[in-house]
Amino acid sequence: MLENFMEILRKNHRSIAFAEGTDPRIIQAACRLRDEGILTPVLIGNRQIIDGAAVRAGCDVRDIEVIDPHKYEHIDVMVKVMVKARNGKLTEEQARATLMQPHYFGTMLLKTGMVDAHLCGAVYTTADTVRAALQLLKTSPGNSMVSSCFILIREDDMKCFADCGLNISYEDTLDKKGNVIRSASDKLAEVAHQTAITAKAFGMDPKVAFLSYSTKGSGHGPEVDLMRDACYLFKKKYPEFPADGEMQYDCAVVPEVGQRKMPGSIVAGHANTFIFPDISAGNIGYKLFQYAGGYYALGPILQGLGGPMNDLSRGCNVEEVYLMSIITAAMGIFADRFKV
Ligand SMILES: CC(C)(COP(=O)(O)OP(=O)(O)OC[C@H]1O[C@@H](n2cnc3c(N)ncnc32)[C@H](O)[C@@H]1OP(=O)(O)O)[C@@H](O)C(=O)NCCC(=O)NCCS
Repeated sequence: MLENFMEILRKNHRSIAFAEGTDPRIIQAACRLRDEGILTPVLIGNRQIIDGAAVRAGCDVRDIEVIDPHKYEHIDVMVKVMVKARNGKLTEEQARATLMQPHYFGTMLLKTGMVDAHLCGAVYTTADTVRAALQLLKTSPGNSMVSSCFILIREDDMKCFADCGLNISYEDTLDKKGNVIRSASDKLAEVAHQTAITAKAFGMDPKVAFLSYSTKGSGHGPEVDLMRDACYLFKKKYPEFPADGEMQYDCAVVPEVGQRKMPGSIVAGHANTFIFPDISAGNIGYKLFQYAGGYYALGPILQGLGGPMNDLSRGCNVEEVYLMSIITAAMGIFADRFKV
């Protein structure tokens, strides 16, 4: 799948901005993308500092475009677009000051069409990176929320986990009188749908398991209800994707356990797309696979966002920056595949 992404990117010229242009991992990955003719990198930061960092990293960045927010010629237009996007939540003065922060500036380069993709998070936290994306890019058509997933890879086994990085928990949205206008389970069903589509875009045949400490009512509690109801709504709204739940992880992946606990289910025992009840379960779960299970973790991949932008882990290495750049830019090209 990645080979395919690379080939298409070589044939369809795309640029990608890196908010953390002075970071040696970013510089090395940017040079590799340029040398292999996959993407045109744009580094955000001060030219002199980037040049110095590049020399120390053993890279030549003289032909790579560097944009310094402090010297950006179109800053006035960018400020106006930003104020409009924030819809009364930011004055022009505040927008101008905010844009001096590279993660906001990079997000606005993408929003104003100056670059085709944006990657950030080697230095900024996930919360900072994602907040800029949510505030400015918002959701893409057909989505009411943004979520994230991780692709876990070990040899020929691939799994998709969500949401491990963005939505902390799911709550009902209430009107002023306390009536539920959107249930938590409906939100989780949407996250599951976005995740199934991402899994498909990565060449998987998604079988969606709504995970819990309970299988089909063996346990009780609000989180069990959430997963059962979300699964019910998912099946009703998105019948194109096989799904089942609530279920425990062993039931989801061990065929004998699956058939014993959920006889007749086509998902139990064969699931590859896993929906977690909250970010704690999801985040701990994917890291267990990564560090105890020897899986390679790709992500977090943002889903439902109004533009191709992704978050890096602060512990990322050059290879991860390189791969996430390819995935992020490909998300722009394969908008139909990634579209929800
Ligand atoms: C993503 C996150 C930063 C957003 O929360 P926040 O900073 O409190 O931001 P807010 O709730 O004020 O939301 C900011 C904007 O994003 C929007 N937003 C928040 N969550 C959203 C979602 N899931 N989908 C779409 N929009 C969302 C809000 O509506 C708000 O928009 P507005 O400013 O135009 O009104 C927060 O959910 C978070 O910290 N998540 C966990 C990140 C993390 O630590 N991950 C673990 C490491 S991988």
